[in-house]
Amino acid sequence: MERIVKISFVLTVLIKAVYCQGLAIDFNIQTATNSSLPAADAGVSADSTSTDRLQINCRLANINNVERFDNLRLGRITKNGVVQNLAKLQNAVAALPGYQTPILESGVMMVGIQVHGSFSPTNPTLGISLPISSLTCNDAATYNCTLEYGYVEGSNYKPAVAVEEKNLTVTVKPPGIEMTAFNQSSTNFAGQQITDSGTESSSPAKFYIGQVIKITCKASLGSYRNGEIKWRKSNIVAGSSLANHIPNSGDHIVGEVQAVDGCQYQKTDSILYNMTDQDATRASNNPLQFQCYVAVQTPFYETPEATRKNFFLRVFNENEDPTSGGLATAGSGDAGVIAGAVIGSLVGIVIIVLLVYFLWYRRRAAGDDYTTKEEQGASNPNLAPEPQYAQSTKKGHENRAMDERTDSSHRYANDSYDRKDRHDRSDRNGQRGVGRRNLALDDDDEDYHSRDGSPTMNHSTHMGIDPEHGGIGTGV
Ligand SMILES: *[C@@H]1O[C@H](CO)[C@@H](O)[C@H](O)[C@H]1NC(C)=O
Ligand SMILES: *[C@@H]1O[C@H](CO)[C@@H](O)[C@H](O)[C@H]1NC(C)=O
Ligand SMILES: *[C@@H]1O[C@H](CO)[C@@H](O)[C@H](O)[C@H]1NC(C)=O
Ligand SMILES: *[C@@H]1O[C@H](CO)[C@@H](O)[C@H](O)[C@H]1NC(C)=O
Ligand SMILES: *[C@@H]1O[C@H](CO)[C@@H](O)[C@H](O)[C@H]1NC(C)=O
Repeated sequence: MERIVKISFVLTVLIKAVYCQGLAIDFNIQTATNSSLPAADAGVSADSTSTDRLQINCRLANINNVERFDNLRLGRITKNGVVQNLAKLQNAVAALPGYQTPILESGVMMVGIQVHGSFSPTNPTLGISLPISSLTCNDAATYNCTLEYGYVEGSNYKPAVAVEEKNLTVTVKPPGIEMTAFNQSSTNFAGQQITDSGTESSSPAKFYIGQVIKITCKASLGSYRNGEIKWRKSNIVAGSSLANHIPNSGDHIVGEVQAVDGCQYQKTDSILYNMTDQDATRASNNPLQFQCYVAVQTPFYETPEATRKNFFLRVFNENEDPTSGGLATAGSGDAGVIAGAVIGSLVGIVIIVLLVYFLWYRRRAAGDDYTTKEEQGASNPNLAPEPQYAQSTKKGHENRAMDERTDSSHRYANDSYDRKDRHDRSDRNGQRGVGRRNLALDDDDEDYHSRDGSPTMNHSTHMGIDPEHGGIGTGV
């Protein structure tokens, strides 16, 4: 008995040795339009945004004597040496699964896997396909095919086995980022997670100057152990693109690279940010915004814009009520402020002219129904800007706005160009510390200057949305 087993084992080994050539394994990329290309160097780049599929096919390449096949099987051996059966096609037992129809082996649980193939007694094919978007580094394995068949030699029908194997490499592009924000100044408990705001520019998280936020980004680096998390911040000038944000080392918590599943990497970085005076001067269409993304140097990769994570903030002055909507909605940078000033002045003049005209007209036609008309007009929401400008007229109409501009330009000139003079800041803000860091302010100024060296423009930006002196259109 033992002998028979031994002999059959030796026979199998011999047959395998003789017929190990002849099968082929192909790795193909199948696009949405069904065109199919061989994967270059048996390697595939797993991109979470791809709509393509990877096909792994077994076919007869160089076996011409097949009388009839019994079994064609596809499997793989993982990096950890685990053998997995993936698909089969058999022509041996009609009552068993896979008879003349390709099927997945029971227990195969790979996301989006499909089986395909064609039955022919002498020339079968068998394959699986997987969405490229769901490939992981664990799909990088040794794929193998085995064909059991019979051939005729002389008048004898003889069994034979052909095997083939091929390695697939998978490079996983960094698939995703999770961003979480924490209120370090929360009175409930420091580091309370912010869940109700910030993810959309239309619902920014609200903070006061001097309060601190912590933003954490957990990024999958895919196959790229050397990937880094980078940060960007919105420019103080509305409409400009985000600028690189390089935090102070004390405000930058850089995480260790961790291996996930043994072959993919992830990293978690955080930044701390202290709200500055300048942040509170931002127009509502240009909120303070932080962005994180993954960058790899070689091979070059950056998270596509659409899948980067953003956090939006609105910063208020101590004496502002965030619930009232807060600051000026007027300025969108310099152009907005200048336009606002010009339009404001014009509207003011028109209103004065109208008022004078109405008063004059009323006096002439005293006691008639024009009075009623005017009263209705005053409560008409379409004329809503009127109270604002009416107010500023009382205080000396459009010249006041011009005076304030000069005044605040002076102050900001001090801030921007004489940054050592922190006393000026603390004078203005009373309780705020003298030594407050204003890195972001400095950064932004630099950004701005590099964009347009004109300091005059810069001042008017600050001026237009100056929280303390009231920007154009905020009323006083
Ligand atoms: C691609 O092939 C599959 C299966 O062969 C078929 O179901 C699908 O309709 C084809 N798609 C196109 C766009 O031809
Ligand atoms: C693949 O190779 C493993 C290890 O040699 C083997 O156990 C398995 O049966 C093979 N599978 C196929 C389908 O060839
Ligand atoms: C295929 O992968 C296995 C396991 O990682 C390795 O031992 C083998 O040398 C590789 N073969 C080729 C041809 O690269
Ligand atoms: C953070 O906490 C402070 C103090 O309670 C509060 O003023 C501020 O509005 C909070 N901000 C957010 C976004 O929760
Ligand atoms: C943030 O700024 C305030 C006001 O200057 C300061 O008191 C506080 O220490 C700063 N916090 C951090 C974490 O830098």
